[in-house]
Amino acid sequence: MKLSVIGCGYLGAVHASAMASIGHDVVGIDVDALKIEKLSTGKSPFFEPGLDELLSEGLATGRLRFSTEMSDAADATVHFIGVGTPQVAGKDNADLRYVYAAIESLLTVLKPDDLVVGKSTVPVGTAAELAVKIRPSGARLLWNPEFLREGFAVQDTLRPDRVVYGVESARENAPEVAKLDDVYAPVLAGGMRRLVMNLPTAELVKVSANAFLATKISFINAMAEISEVVGADVTQLADAIGADDRIGRKFLNAGIGFGGGCLPKDIRAFAARAGELGVGDAVGFLREVDQINLRRRQRVVDLVVQSQGGDVTGEKVAVLGLAFKPNSDDVRDSPAVDVASKLSLLGASVTATDPEAIENSRRLLPGVEFVPGPADAVVDARVVVVATEWKLFKDFEPPQVAKEEERLVIDARNCLRAETWTSAGWKYVALGKSA
Ligand code: UDX
Repeated sequence: MKLSVIGCGYLGAVHASAMASIGHDVVGIDVDALKIEKLSTGKSPFFEPGLDELLSEGLATGRLRFSTEMSDAADATVHFIGVGTPQVAGKDNADLRYVYAAIESLLTVLKPDDLVVGKSTVPVGTAAELAVKIRPSGARLLWNPEFLREGFAVQDTLRPDRVVYGVESARENAPEVAKLDDVYAPVLAGGMRRLVMNLPTAELVKVSANAFLATKISFINAMAEISEVVGADVTQLADAIGADDRIGRKFLNAGIGFGGGCLPKDIRAFAARAGELGVGDAVGFLREVDQINLRRRQRVVDLVVQSQGGDVTGEKVAVLGLAFKPNSDDVRDSPAVDVASKLSLLGASVTATDPEAIENSRRLLPGVEFVPGPADAVVDARVVVVATEWKLFKDFEPPQVAKEEERLVIDARNCLRAETWTSAGWKYVALGKSA
């Protein structure tokens, strides 16, 4: 089938490549000429395992191409919308300008019977508005939220846990359902759960799933705050409560909290939208989830400052990790970057490293020195903060130091073996454990 994918960021570039890999003829459209140029040469503009291979394969077969011109989408009969919905600067709401611009532009090429498939994360109610805009063209809208995780994006696109279709009629036998089933046939094969529902439910599935995940992380981080006071160990606590399969162990890793391009902005946009709809109280707890999350970053900064007698001016601090999670070069709303920035602003001499995210961090951290690896970063550091749980940092053998030097490592992701550091003479502190 001939498909177009509008928006070639984390979501769209992966989706376009994945659709080509299952046999479709796909054009990816984006207004960013540099991004299109890079993708057209088979290079992913961001770090995503497996994507370069999929891109090269798609380009080589001729089934995948990229363009800045919407007119190149004119032959396609199914159009995916995968543009970003970032947070509005200074507000909690999602910025929908790229979604509306994509639809306006798409309207110039839409044909009767085409299918428009929304994948971007949008505030509930957006799809119904878009359906009205699209209707005069004779095309139809289906909302098909994406649940992909960065670092596993290819796998999550080709082998998702479930596929959600939002259609105006909410009916299984709607023509748009059959059409998307044709597109996804290889993905749906083997009994994949495909759930058909109305448009607002499909939009809500996405934002409520992210709200739940964020709440789960903040729950365990709230327990970490208490654990630190009472002398408990939050990792043992998570193992014990997570053994109950009604609770589950996943997403109970306490630490410096969640970041990235999705969870933080999605819970804020959700709370803002609920407020607009007059049901803000229903998700008032998401403000608390956000606050708990932000307090963990501050806690790391406070631990560093306290360890230096209340003043970090001129003290050398190493921050290991900049990406918001391992196997990513994404630093959007990254707790690691936030901590490095706060310490730098307090006057510390911050040295940072990350296997993939240094380039993306430079602009955000003007006062920070970047070094190639952990061995360079920890030289002379009074305090080392492990802020992203890359395997490289977990496996790192720290240099031997004299106990009297009182050098400290802060395990802000609960990912280190304490003995590795203490036996090398370091003081070890972890979030959610007594000092
Ligand atoms: C998330 C959702 O998982 C995905 O379904 C959705 O489509 C997009 O948002 P992603 O942003 O790639 O995906 O990251 P995820 O793996 O969910 O991690 C989010 C943040 O939570 C990271 O900063 C991670 O370090 C943190 N986290 C995760 C924890 O602090 N503790 C945990 O136990 C799990």
